Amino acid sequence: MDNLSLEDIVSLAKRRGFVFPSSEIYGGFAGVYDYGPYGVELANNIKAAWWRYMVQLRPDIVGLDSGIFMHPNIWKASGHVEGFSDPLVECRNCHNRIRADHVLEELGEQADEKMSEEHLNELFQKHRQEVKCPVCGKVEWGDVKNFNLLVKSNLGNFSDNFDDNPSYLRGETCQGIYVNFLNVLDSTRIKIPFGIAQIGKAFRNEISPRQFIFRTRELEQMEMQYFVEPDSEMDEYEKLRHYRWDFYKTIGLREENLQWHKHENLVFYAKEAYDIEYKFPFGFKELEGVHARGDYDLTQHQKFSGKDLSYFDPINNQRFVPHIIESSVGVGRIMLAILTDAYSVEDINGEKRTVLKIHPDIAPIKYAVFPLLRNKPELVNKAREVYDQLSKLGMCEWDDNGNIGKRYRRQDEIGTPKCMTIDFQTLEDNTITVRDRDTTLQTRVNISDLVSTLGSVKA
Ligand code: GAP
Repeated sequence: MDNLSLEDIVSLAKRRGFVFPSSEIYGGFAGVYDYGPYGVELANNIKAAWWRYMVQLRPDIVGLDSGIFMHPNIWKASGHVEGFSDPLVECRNCHNRIRADHVLEELGEQADEKMSEEHLNELFQKHRQEVKCPVCGKVEWGDVKNFNLLVKSNLGNFSDNFDDNPSYLRGETCQGIYVNFLNVLDSTRIKIPFGIAQIGKAFRNEISPRQFIFRTRELEQMEMQYFVEPDSEMDEYEKLRHYRWDFYKTIGLREENLQWHKHENLVFYAKEAYDIEYKFPFGFKELEGVHARGDYDLTQHQKFSGKDLSYFDPINNQRFVPHIIESSVGVGRIMLAILTDAYSVEDINGEKRTVLKIHPDIAPIKYAVFPLLRNKPELVNKAREVYDQLSKLGMCEWDDNGNIGKRYRRQDEIGTPKCMTIDFQTLEDNTITVRDRDTTLQTRVNISDLVSTLGSVKA
């Protein structure tokens, strides 16, 4: 929808039970969100669609669920302890900290977190007078400094000061994949090229979590790492890029709201890096990264673990360290993209309605069942029969409250594709009204034909 604001989405998400701010009754907890009754269904459907597409449909990709905590040296090998940081600058007056690269971007500079500390500081100092502290309004900035994003813990450490030897909550899920590369290879029939996919929580001490569920401190990632023979890396990379683009079409995102962004500042080991960007209410921003990472990851883990992570190819009789191409996306970002894409306000016979036109496979509730009147046991019993049939097919909601028009509007706002009303005619001829979310058309369907008429939505 044109001129849709992030506030429209935040408000609907709260009002209708998709996303709640964390710890709200305690005044909130920044950078964390809770998914409500419809949010958890939507998130589960997004994850199921991703898993189906990335694992179930692919004979060459297997799944994994590794622990959130891992050996601390993994984060040294990966480069996170040294270099997983965002550039921040602190207000000397009130000690508020802001992201230097974000402020510079807003001032029209080409800046990102991968630029060196010195370069960002130079740019920031050039613009410092234009930047007022959003908290105290003063212009008293220090120098730009990199701030490490890994979240530390005392897991397995019983000393009073764990800061020197911390264990970390994982900053990304893919490290669990790299360190299980040999286990997967040794325990399955899989051969290179092959992929390992994982869905799970990751944690980042983001300095300024913002834009709702776009940037959070606790996030859920869906990552797939594809292990290839070195010479085929770029061919496989092109295939994966197109495969990932098509995923967004299968979950119903409109293609005109997607675009590729090629990275100009590559990290030293990367061969090529593209992001798929989505047109959020605050502009085109990264939805997913699809990157060709060379042999960096396994080489680093070989070095730090002392274990041989090379692969022997018996057909060509050669040994090599596999190169890796990666697809990585956050569940929250896809959820925000889906809510943005689906949000519509329409005029129906002079009345405004808000409707989420979510793809039926992804919609949190598939069917809503309405007995016309709650105090007529014949209607309620018949409606119960319909509910019992449909709830075996997918998530169903029962609503016997208020007038039917209001019940439709409520289901429209949570994106339910079909609503079923059981009325007095049902008692005579066993038909019910099936109302379509997008067209608002109503048709009478015999209860015995219901399942075949509805077709299949993936529940
Ligand atoms: N393994 C590569 C990796 O983690 P990344 O660019 O840092 O790369 C990958 O993150 C994806 O994870 C992003 O494209 C985004 O969808 C999601 N993501 C990253 N940081 C996030 C955050 N703070 N909040 C929500 N999603 C995030």
